[in-house]
Amino acid sequence: MQIRNWDDYQNNYQKSVEDPEKFWGEIADQFIWKKPYKKVLDWDFETPSIKWFEGGSLNITENCLDRHVKTHPNKKAIIWEPNDPNDDGLTWTYQELYNEVCSFANVLKKHGVVKGDRVCLYMPMVPQLAVAVLACARIGAVHSVVFAGFSAQSLADRIDDAKCKLIVTTDGAFRGQKEIPIKGIVDEAVSKCDCVEKIIVFKRTEQYVSMTAQRDVWWHEEMENASTDCPAEEMESEDMLFILYTSGSTGKPKGVVHTCGGYMVYSHYSFTNVFQYEADDIYWCTADIGWITGHSYIVYGPLLAGATTLMFEGIPTWPDAGRFWAICDKYKVNQFYTAPTAIRSLMSKGLEPVARYSLNSLKVIGSVGEPINEEAWRWYNTYIGKNKCPIVDTWWQTETGGIMISPIPNVTDIRPTYATYPLPGIQPILLDKDGNEIKENNVEGLLCIKFPWPSIVRTLYGDHERLKQTYFSTFKGYYFTGDGAKRDTQGRYRIIGRVDDVINVSGHRMGTAEVENAINEHPWVVESAVVGYPHDIKGQGIYAYIIPDRHIESEQAFIDEVNETVRKEIGPIAKPDIIQVVSGLPKTRSGKIMRRILRKIASGDISTLGDTSTLLNPDIVEEIIEKSPMIKK
Ligand code: WT7
Repeated sequence: MQIRNWDDYQNNYQKSVEDPEKFWGEIADQFIWKKPYKKVLDWDFETPSIKWFEGGSLNITENCLDRHVKTHPNKKAIIWEPNDPNDDGLTWTYQELYNEVCSFANVLKKHGVVKGDRVCLYMPMVPQLAVAVLACARIGAVHSVVFAGFSAQSLADRIDDAKCKLIVTTDGAFRGQKEIPIKGIVDEAVSKCDCVEKIIVFKRTEQYVSMTAQRDVWWHEEMENASTDCPAEEMESEDMLFILYTSGSTGKPKGVVHTCGGYMVYSHYSFTNVFQYEADDIYWCTADIGWITGHSYIVYGPLLAGATTLMFEGIPTWPDAGRFWAICDKYKVNQFYTAPTAIRSLMSKGLEPVARYSLNSLKVIGSVGEPINEEAWRWYNTYIGKNKCPIVDTWWQTETGGIMISPIPNVTDIRPTYATYPLPGIQPILLDKDGNEIKENNVEGLLCIKFPWPSIVRTLYGDHERLKQTYFSTFKGYYFTGDGAKRDTQGRYRIIGRVDDVINVSGHRMGTAEVENAINEHPWVVESAVVGYPHDIKGQGIYAYIIPDRHIESEQAFIDEVNETVRKEIGPIAKPDIIQVVSGLPKTRSGKIMRRILRKIASGDISTLGDTSTLLNPDIVEEIIEKSPMIKK
């Protein structure tokens, strides 16, 4: 299934469009199925209802582990690099990982977890997180990984929405020089939920934690006597594999649901092709398993391919800005996959930290999560890839489960800042605002997908109607991505960014409404409006306009309090970069906030504000401009 040259790509692409069932059927046949599927695909985007490999049953962990244990038990599966470069790392072979996973699966079973139960994983980047993910899959429990940077409130919302009955966590986390009280956050979250029966705690930092009798148990104690024999649960192809919460333009985060068969086929297929992984390569994706990138391209994709996947616990800038490159040299990393925000932040530290390392093991380097600007692309290409590593700018989403549009190294061509061509099986189109397909090239439009692929989102947990509304109703018959894109004369795509009220801060996806709701929790806030603005390192920064209900004596003290409120409600990643206290917000006569104007001001560009005289309160625009830190006077 690995595409080797341009002809191969074109033939595969054509076949995937002309006869998708045959195309995906042949790929699916390369996996271990417990029962063969009867029908490759059954779909309609109206309901919407999408079923891949119906009638088939499988367990994804047999494909990630058992089959590799048979052929190469001693190959390294996971290499773990700890936060502190002076601490011992850890390596697990496929055999060792298999044993860990089966043992922990038995621990979960012992604590009453059965097929279909939801299990929340709130852990930093320790290898036990990968074990917990796979152990859930082994017994058919649905994992919901929550990024360990989210606050107790956010964690509680996610636990409660999915009604998780068990949580796996750690005592604490190391991140650079910080030590974070993970278990304390879990305790606070659990006090707000009544579905949690058990908490399993892996000891990482050895900091003091309080353990509630009957409810909380230690990972290492439970694992002591656990058997390494755990038969894989038989799952229907469309049984749920996991839930992953992500932000939308409105309301609370939605639980994106992926299912077993299709996700397995596509995460493997896309991994193999986009990274052109070869048998002895060391592959490293710097994402956190708390995001979809970590699910698909740290855990499932690489392990399905029998690859060696590196997991890093720390941050790119500690002990210094050369850490990523030190790790690349230390393990002779061949494929390196990171985010533009990390590239920009390291770029700002100069060349000295890069020059210390050879980086000569690298073959392919990748980018994901947000549009990569030309300057960052060139720096990455010159100083990291040394002009010899194809850059794969991979466009995809939590909802797509896997990479959709991306160069294929040494197969398709590269154009800086372009995600270029769709992978075989992916049929992107551009629509105009009225929903008409733009067929020619050298155009710009709204990015939709017109045919299902195996890892498309199946439902939003507990709210199928919202799935339909969000993705399948804007343009009938198409999956709407929420992104705008360009297509050049050669048919290559460049993703411009979101066209809805979703912002992308350091590759983290956030709903402006979600941040506003958090801000509004502060008792003095009457109303707020949040917009994104261009930020040199984060890609987008968060700019919040806030109306208080009283005269503010110390603006800084008030701003600090609002920041603290957001940190508590969502987490540090959602803290506004700029807060401007205002006496009103520009509104239309029907009372709608004119975000377009607020976005312009936040970006420092007031030359094209347009006609503001039809506003309900035109004077407010002047006042906001006058006090905005972004407008040079
Ligand atoms: C949104 C999805 C998918 C993994 C990480 C983000 C933006 C993602 C690119 C790229 C330009 C990109 C889009 C997309 N995005 N990759 N290569 N170029 N933009 O997943 O949190 O679900 O966010 O990230 O706007 O819609 P996510």
